[in-house]
Amino acid sequence: MEHQKKILVTGANGQLGMEFRQLAPLFPEYLFLFLSKAEIAIDDDDKLRAFFEKNIIDVCINCAAYTAVDKSETDKEQAIAINVTAVANMAAICKQYSARFIHFSTDYVFNGNAEKPYRESDVTDPVNFYGQTKLEGEQAAIKNNEDVIIIRTSWVYSRFGKNFVKTMMRLMAEKDSIGVVTDQRGCPTYAADLAEAVMQVIKSNSDAAGIYHYCNEGIISWFEFATAIKEIMGSSCTVHPLATSDYPTPAKRPAYSALDTRKIKETWQIAIPGWRTSLESCIKEYIN
Ligand SMILES: NC(=O)c1ccc[n+]([C@@H]2O[C@H](COP(=O)([O-])OP(=O)(O)OC[C@H]3O[C@@H](n4cnc5c(N)ncnc54)[C@H](OP(=O)(O)O)[C@@H]3O)[C@@H](O)[C@H]2O)c1
Repeated sequence: MEHQKKILVTGANGQLGMEFRQLAPLFPEYLFLFLSKAEIAIDDDDKLRAFFEKNIIDVCINCAAYTAVDKSETDKEQAIAINVTAVANMAAICKQYSARFIHFSTDYVFNGNAEKPYRESDVTDPVNFYGQTKLEGEQAAIKNNEDVIIIRTSWVYSRFGKNFVKTMMRLMAEKDSIGVVTDQRGCPTYAADLAEAVMQVIKSNSDAAGIYHYCNEGIISWFEFATAIKEIMGSSCTVHPLATSDYPTPAKRPAYSALDTRKIKETWQIAIPGWRTSLESCIKEYIN
């Protein structure tokens, strides 16, 4: 009998990790092992190594990250420990134990001055510390493991965890009016779609490695995103446009961070849903 492949998901209680938990029963040909931060923190190198020593892992999907963009401007050591050092170690461990390493990065590796969606080969130039750590994590992972698959994604939301969609839904239920920035444009990503795409990548058994971009189809502003949430919810809250300068944050954001997804679509014949369709699915799932 063919051996049942084991997939390890780290950071398993985050948005993306939770979406893999939902998908797992649909892939009975794989044995999924989920590790939350409390079970094994990815920056605990010894524990992680011991886990790989004990369990034969075929694929390791790293959903763990330091994702607090503003906090990372001051909590630099932690952001580096999780987004750079731990990722470098994980890449090396996966190589040592012959596990395929799948890791996620961000649109925030770019400076936002582009006028067309960023391709994987475009010059990186992060404008905030989080983006800098994610970029260094990419570089360290590639250096330690040439077979790594890195998927850069953007504006991730899900019915799990903390995200823009859930925050908007809460605020729209509480307030008569809210302001949302209109001069930052990018591509929302429904974590459930991303998790499905990753499963398609794993199932292909292809040797393709390197950096890929994944986000839902369509480019919008946060204001347009909020307006769509309001429409889908049928909320009477007024959404008014703000300029980034009206809403100062500790970390600077790129003004334009749309990702070009041609490479992932062509490599694995992945069909990516439009942002609005996926937003409707997420809100429906969340409400029911
Ligand atoms: N969210 C976005 O908009 C966005 C955009 C672009 C790229 N990404 C990337 O996409 C990936 C998935 O993000 P996400 O949205 O699912 O993030 P998330 O919801 O913040 O989940 C990250 C998870 O990692 C856990 N974690 C933090 N430090 C850890 C450690 N040392 N060891 C193990 N687990 C740890 C967190 O646990 P605690 O909550 O307990 O700390 C959390 O459960 C990340 O690589 C992120 O950088 C996200």
